[in-house]
Amino acid sequence: MIALRHLFGIAELDAEQIRYLLQLGASFVGLSRRSIRKAPTLRGKTIINLFFESSTRTRTSFEIAGKRLSADVINISSSTSATKKGESLLDTALTLAAMRPHVLVIRHALPGCCHFLAEHLRETSIVNAGDGAHEHPTQALTDLLTLQEHGGFVGKTITIVGDIAHSRVARSHLLAARKMGYRVRLVAPKTLLPRRVEQFGCEVYHDFDEAIPGSDVLYMLRIQTERLTSNCSFPSLREYHEAYGLNGRRLAAAGEQCLVMHPGPMNRGVEIASDVADSAASRILDQVEHGVAMRMAVLTALCGGGEEA
Ligand code: NCD
Repeated sequence: MIALRHLFGIAELDAEQIRYLLQLGASFVGLSRRSIRKAPTLRGKTIINLFFESSTRTRTSFEIAGKRLSADVINISSSTSATKKGESLLDTALTLAAMRPHVLVIRHALPGCCHFLAEHLRETSIVNAGDGAHEHPTQALTDLLTLQEHGGFVGKTITIVGDIAHSRVARSHLLAARKMGYRVRLVAPKTLLPRRVEQFGCEVYHDFDEAIPGSDVLYMLRIQTERLTSNCSFPSLREYHEAYGLNGRRLAAAGEQCLVMHPGPMNRGVEIASDVADSAASRILDQVEHGVAMRMAVLTALCGGGEEA
């Protein structure tokens, strides 16, 4: 049993904690497949989801995860919060913390916002549900749980393709790969790669076709248009699809063992062809299913460690 105080990022977790969360996550996959999808694990706990950026999967899965474990879950989005009236992020967080929730799940465009808020909130655990282009730890954990249930990840090569520069998901995977024993290949045009990315110990490719042989997973990313700056030159979407889109030809070249993953939301016909997204190799909806189980695991670890799980 391992209890966590906060979940800021993969950077703050060690391999033992990640293995524990994956084991706990696996135990919750079964619960979500039963006809009665409810356990008393988090009865009496209050969880607030505070989302300042749009989200379908992450927000809903945190809400379902809390509810399946009998917690009281409250959702607040930027459009309904008082930040619209000029309140700062810190004042909003202090206000919510004064209502004594056990966990505050936060998504915000500011990298490092969870570390900052944790310095001011004494009794509330904070979960990073995506802080700008910095980290998205529960997505990386969800992906590892999905792979654990589909042949494992140790020794495997995950090839992440697309807008690496703005991807908090890619960053969390780069950090997790070293700790958990898998390899990451990155594929992107130079303009969509962060500087000095090789320091993470990954292989970098600019030609997608060259990166395909030996890949166990082709992990496609959306272009984060909301984070593109004016000095980031970008080809047309058709050209991008030609060079960096996953189509049937590329999937065939990867071989039968290769899985297709995507954190969502997908842009069909841009980073991924529609038939590939719906193909037998696609684990995209499995990722969504495992996202609920993984967030159940994270909330449990934050609320005491899961002795009842
Ligand atoms: C990702 C995110 O928000 O970082 N989506 C998600 O949480 N499933 C990826 C994205 O927005 O492209």
